[in-house]
Formats: sequence, C-alpha cells, structure tokens
Amino acid sequence: MRKPENPFLISGYHSPDYFCDRKKETTRLLNHIQNGQNVTLTSVRRIGKTGLIKHLFYNLPEGWKGIYVDILPTENLQEFLSMLTTAILNTVPEKESLGRKIWTFVKSMRPIISFDPLTNLPQASFELRQADAEMHISSIMQFLENQDFNIVIAIDEFQQITRYPEKNIDAWLRSVIQHMTHVRFVFSGSQQHIINEMFSLPSRPFYRSTAVLGIEKLEKSEYRDFIAGWFDRHGKSVSGEIIEDMLMWSCLHTYYVQLICNRVFATGQKKITDTVWKEEAYKLLKEQENIFFNYRSMLTNPQWQLMKAVAHEGVVTAPTSKDFISRYKLGSPSTVLRSLKSLINNELLYSAFTVEGAVYYSIYDILFRRWTESFPLS
Ligand SMILES: Nc1ncnc2c1ncn2[C@@H]1O[C@H](COP(=O)(O)OP(=O)(O)O)[C@@H](O)[C@H]1O
Ligand SMILES: [Mg+2]
Repeated sequence: MRKPENPFLISGYHSPDYFCDRKKETTRLLNHIQNGQNVTLTSVRRIGKTGLIKHLFYNLPEGWKGIYVDILPTENLQEFLSMLTTAILNTVPEKESLGRKIWTFVKSMRPIISFDPLTNLPQASFELRQADAEMHISSIMQFLENQDFNIVIAIDEFQQITRYPEKNIDAWLRSVIQHMTHVRFVFSGSQQHIINEMFSLPSRPFYRSTAVLGIEKLEKSEYRDFIAGWFDRHGKSVSGEIIEDMLMWSCLHTYYVQLICNRVFATGQKKITDTVWKEEAYKLLKEQENIFFNYRSMLTNPQWQLMKAVAHEGVVTAPTSKDFISRYKLGSPSTVLRSLKSLINNELLYSAFTVEGAVYYSIYDILFRRWTESFPLS
C-alpha cells in the first residue's frame, strides 16, 4: 500500500501507523466478538467510529473476515441488499476459492453487476419487491453462516434503517441475525438518540441485544505523542505548547485535530511557530465562512445568541439555569428551551451525557464554534 504524503489523514483508514491509540476500544471489540457478542458503537460524528471499525478489521485474528457496509446512502431494503452484496463481493477477490464460491452464490440471486468506473470495483444492484429483498438478505446471511471461518459484518450509520419505508425492519433483522453463531455484527451510528432508542428501549427489537460501546475523544497525552511523533519523523519541529494549543482549538475532536495538523503539516514549514498554525486555523474558518453566514442567517436572534453563548462556553450543562441565562442575557428559560430544541433539530447543537450521566450541550462543528465565538456577546 502506498504511504500517504501527509500522515494526518482526514478521510479513510490506512494502517495502524496513521491511527492514534484506541487500544482499549480495539481490545474490547475483539473480546466481545470473539465471545459471541454483537456490539453497538455510538458517538457524535467525526470522533472515529468508522476508523475504529477499519482498525478492528486490520487487527482481526486468523480465520476471521470483516465486511464493512455503510448504509447512509440507502433508502430502502433493496438498496440495503445491494450495499451488503457489493461489500461482500469487494471483501473477497473472485480469484480466491472462497471468492469463487461467493460470486457463484451472489450471481444466483441475479443482481445487476457493474464496475465502478473509477475504482473498477464490482457493484451489485437488485430490483426486487420487499419480500424478495428480505428473502435474499436472509439467504446471504445463511450462506455466510455456513462458511468455515468467522465473519464480522459492520453496519455503519445503522440508524438509517429507521428511515426505510418498510415496516418493522429492525424486528425482522433481529430475527435473522439472532441465531447466527459464525457471523458477528458491529452496528455503528452517529445519531445517538436514535441509536440509543433502538438498543436501550425495552419496546424495541434490538433492546439489550448488543454490548453498547460509546466512543469518546482520544486521550490527550496519546494524541500529543502521535502528533509530535509524525512531525518529528519528517524533520519538522513543533513545541509541546503548540500541539497543546492545536488540541485545545480543535477541542480534541478527532476530525478537527486531524484537519488542523494536516494543514499545518502541508505548509511545508520546518519550524511550526504560533503564526504558522494560527494562520492555518484562520484559513480553515475563512474557507467555510459562506456556509457559516448562511447558517447564521437561518437562525432567529435568540437562537444566535444561544449559539454564541454555547460557543463561548464550549460545553453547557445547565442551559436554563439563572446563572447561564443572565450571564449571556438570554431572556427566559422557555425561550432558551425553544431555541435549544430547534438548534438540536437542525444539528447545530448536540446533546450527550457526561461520564457521570449528566446531560450536556455542545456545538457539532468545531469550525463553526470557533467562527461563532469570534462575534461579540451582546
Ligand atoms: N484514532 C485515530 N487516529 C487518527 N485519525 C483518526 C482516528 N480515528 C479517526 N480518525 C480520523 O478522523 C476522521 C473522523 O473519523 P471517522 O472514523 O470518520 O469518524 P466517525 O465515523 O465517528 O464519524 C477521519 O478522517 C479519520 O481518518
Ligand atoms: Mg463514520
């Protein structure tokens, strides 16, 4: 595999060298699946769930194969089937004896097979009624279950199935997978409230059927060493304080850490000074400014005031408290609640739980947070 020019990846997964830490998470995942337990991964977007799945696959023991399916683009069961089949075809090359078996099996379902013009990888698609799509998915699962090795199927952005027009998909899927012993599942999703409901409400079919693993931000000291190591290996000097500042600026949110480091690395400077990284940070905000002005124009004044307050605080645990409201002149608790609700609906803010179980609110997009923060409070 070719080495990346820039060691700070901002999309995809390359190999463990370019992946910071996640040792505990990887061990736990391996442990669960080897002991027959399916797992659900949740976190806000861009923390590193997809990366972790790829890292897990890289570290699977002998005799295991990983199949990765991202179902975000799918809108119904037929498209789910197409994605799953495509992922299976891409996991094992046709040349291998197992691959031949898989291809023969898949072809028996009469998909339309085409080749992606860019990557030349096969793509399968089907045109079927719901009952037939269900039957095909069940038979693929059965086929995989009967192979003489173990399989992990990771279904990324799993909450998407709740948007399919077909009814009770989760009940049906649960019944398909629950008796499987050679195939383990990892479900992953960024829309935490939907994922949480699917797996922790007693009325839902997937209730308690998996171990739930919430993915947190990376450990700061691990990230610091990772960043320092890569700059050092390329003969670039960067002080501990500057790394610290960049981690603060990006709130230790994986994607944004990678992004600022990627840009700073790309400047080609041998010595990373305060001016160098701050200029890159400024450019990142500038690039997005049109989008940000557009976001702002869609907000009411109370919503914008609340955004500024949250941007300023970073994390807010008591948005309707007297203290918070008077500090930022936000009016009444009911106004704040109304704004909060619509900012969450529009995915500008998210709510999550602290380790102690308290709910908190924060801005989704760190760049938008930094941009918003630059406006004076009223
Ligand atoms: N442990 C890690 N070390 C370095 N980069 C990572 C790590 N985890 C994720 N990334 C990078 O961060 C970005 C966001 O990660 P991703 O896995 O896509 O997040 P999610 O699936 O939670 O939305 C990607 O560009 C990915 O390459
Ligand atoms: Mg992802």
